[in-house]
Amino acid sequence: MNEEITLQADLWYRLAERKAARYFTSLYEQVKEKTYVPVLTNDFQLWKKSHMGRYSLLSFFSQAIGKPDSRDYHSYIRWLNHTGKLDGFLDRSISYIYMRDLGKSLNAPATQNRIQRVVADVKRYLIRSLAANGGAEPEFMSLAGLYRWARKEGIETAIIWVIDKLNAVSSHIPKEMNSEHSLRKLIKIITGVVLHVIEEMGDHTSPAERAHRLDEAIRLGYSYGLTYPFIDDLLDSPVLSVREKEQYGRMIRTALLTGTVPEPGKLAGPNKELIRYVHTELRDAYAYIKRHQQPETQRLFFEQSYIFFHAQDMDRTKELSNPDYTNEELYVPIILKSAFSRLIVRSVIHAPADEGFDERTFYYGIYNQLADDFADMFEDMKAGAVTPFTYYLTYGGQRPDLINPFELYWAVISHLIHNVYDSDAKTREVILDRAINGLKRCRQRVGVETYNEIIGAFASGIPEFNRLVQQMVRRADDVNFFDKLLRDQMVTVLKNDRREKQQFLDTVKTVRQQINSLLLIPKQDGIPPMKEAMIDSANYSLEGGGKRLRPILAWVMGVDEYGLQAAAIAPLLRSLEYMHTASLIFDDLPSQDNASVRRGRPTLHEVHDSATAELTGLFLIQKAIEEQASLDGFDPKVVMALMQYSSQRAGDMCAGQAMDLQSKGKVLTLEQLNSICFYKTGIAFEASLVMPAILAKAEAAEIAGLTKFAYHTGIAFQIKDDLLDAEGDLHVLGKPAGIDIENNTSTFVTVLGREGAKKEMWEHYSLAMKELKKLPRNPVFLKHLLTYIISRDY
Ligand code: IPE
Ligand code: IPE
Ligand code: MG
Ligand code: MG
Ligand code: MG
Repeated sequence: MNEEITLQADLWYRLAERKAARYFTSLYEQVKEKTYVPVLTNDFQLWKKSHMGRYSLLSFFSQAIGKPDSRDYHSYIRWLNHTGKLDGFLDRSISYIYMRDLGKSLNAPATQNRIQRVVADVKRYLIRSLAANGGAEPEFMSLAGLYRWARKEGIETAIIWVIDKLNAVSSHIPKEMNSEHSLRKLIKIITGVVLHVIEEMGDHTSPAERAHRLDEAIRLGYSYGLTYPFIDDLLDSPVLSVREKEQYGRMIRTALLTGTVPEPGKLAGPNKELIRYVHTELRDAYAYIKRHQQPETQRLFFEQSYIFFHAQDMDRTKELSNPDYTNEELYVPIILKSAFSRLIVRSVIHAPADEGFDERTFYYGIYNQLADDFADMFEDMKAGAVTPFTYYLTYGGQRPDLINPFELYWAVISHLIHNVYDSDAKTREVILDRAINGLKRCRQRVGVETYNEIIGAFASGIPEFNRLVQQMVRRADDVNFFDKLLRDQMVTVLKNDRREKQQFLDTVKTVRQQINSLLLIPKQDGIPPMKEAMIDSANYSLEGGGKRLRPILAWVMGVDEYGLQAAAIAPLLRSLEYMHTASLIFDDLPSQDNASVRRGRPTLHEVHDSATAELTGLFLIQKAIEEQASLDGFDPKVVMALMQYSSQRAGDMCAGQAMDLQSKGKVLTLEQLNSICFYKTGIAFEASLVMPAILAKAEAAEIAGLTKFAYHTGIAFQIKDDLLDAEGDLHVLGKPAGIDIENNTSTFVTVLGREGAKKEMWEHYSLAMKELKKLPRNPVFLKHLLTYIISRDY
């Protein structure tokens, strides 16, 4: 690497370090002289008035009764609204975000106005969604809700892009790392960048310009946010070996100094794939950020990133076994890393310089850092990580020179309220709310006993002040924050989602095994050789690696939802897969799609000839009818109704295939595309859902709901199939890609392009989710099936 650049970087860091050291010294003075104590005592006396009324005992009871756990999102908001606390809650929360994330000063009238407007907007939104949504997760935390927002803003492409990216990140995060944590952090960064851009735009931006800037913000947010899971968390984790970490660290350093991620060099070892993936992602991310920078902000961006990374590195390489770190060594890097991680956001979005923002943000960072480190003290201790708290717990007893981080924390708060924000009353209110809330949350999380122990260890030098603080922690109310509510909710949503997804995959796997075991057609003794050959052909087509989605769907609906016996519906499951396989045999014929590979093996007409394939298809359809007619555990009338439905729908599918073949080379309307896809593909999904319902004598209204859900699900499935035809790979798909272009077939992709097709797929995804919510049983399986359908790779 160029020596001049290295020198320059070193200079950047040393200048920043000097400023941080000055800040640290001023905090240190406050701790040593305990000057923050009388100042904050006075602040708390003022603050207390609005948090502990005279009738505190009474209000304690009236509030505690019926107060839901704040982890239950909708009930909590409803409770806030009923008790008249929603306005205060939002005001406090939004003000805090303006201060922390957007670096604003709360006493500026323009900021106050803006906050009031945002509070009113958010309130309106919350009340509306309370009415629309029962106890489910917040709408915007679901993919469908996110997509609907994107459509409103005209940024569908960026949202689809970022959802794909986040899925890829989550599937690449090694199991030694906490993938929910990484994902949440990344989402938080992207949201922060988007909020920043929205704030920069103001109200007079045209919709087109707004869409453009939001699109860019999402991509910039991801590109920058990526550094959290893949630089910070990865280097913190035990995944990489010492040598890999060195090699990796060098790569990042060069990237930050030159703006180009260098080739990773020869890769070996168990983390080869991971490093290759991370390398590609980071390379693209930096290229994207760089491309969107102005020359002035570009230098600033790299300067800030370098300081951020270097400070993190200095901090990371500390070891808890080393008893000799000075206070400066402990605090200066964390002042820098916490400040620069926020300072960068403005240069990432190439916003014009703002001195006020820079100053406030520089001083603010360590406040959040210390609050987080306090909360994570035990986990950090277990991991042997050095933070001011773990270090003080370890060496505080033997090193009287060590500064007490809990006291420093209060000194920072005092410094922020009085020196950075000019003793502004609103700022005092919000910061103290936050501080008390942090302690309350900690007390709740670790339990009163452990909490008291911690406090005992850290607050013994300030007994009187601590008594006051602990009184607030026990008794003060109205200190909750919206971002914390969302954070808790997000953790729950991500965790549930992962658990449900795993359950879905497990179910698919076990049910598929069961279905596979009852699928093949047996050869009775003494049948003629011709019949034997036909059964062989049918079994050849059945045996390949089919996904078995249709019978799996019928199994889950029949057994799990309607409580039917698996053995009793086995004939139905067979019939569904027989008809589907027959449709594939016909679809692959030279007279139709002329495909040579199916389910990973040569198509039947390739192995034999078209006549054999046609006859085998017919044979399978007849077998399907035979199976249906042998559903003997049910009312014969119901079985007749099922067979009637089945034959009608099979006829409709033929019409779908005919429309598909006749539309070659035509530019179809959206309506025509939907219609073809529903007929040729959607109907089979409908049948898989409806046939168990018929057997279970479900209500007509329920069947109608399932039909609507199946309509959108089936079309989404076919669009994904069209996309895979355009982007997939023969070995993964088990069937040739590119066949639609070759055949001049009109599909969503050939008519609308890949981006257009993806939008339509998401559209149907959202509509199917909406229908799903209306179903009386709303099975979790179907929700995950839908998500699987649009994200599968074969
Ligand atoms: C392929 O269906 C035919 C379409 C409707 C696109 P699948 O993708 O379910 O095929 P298999 O059964 O897994 O082979
Ligand atoms: C076929 O659609 C739908 C059927 C019902 C067979 P495609 O022609 O796109 O299916 P693949 O891609 O060959 O599986
Ligand atoms: Mg076809
Ligand atoms: Mg085909
Ligand atoms: Mg296809």
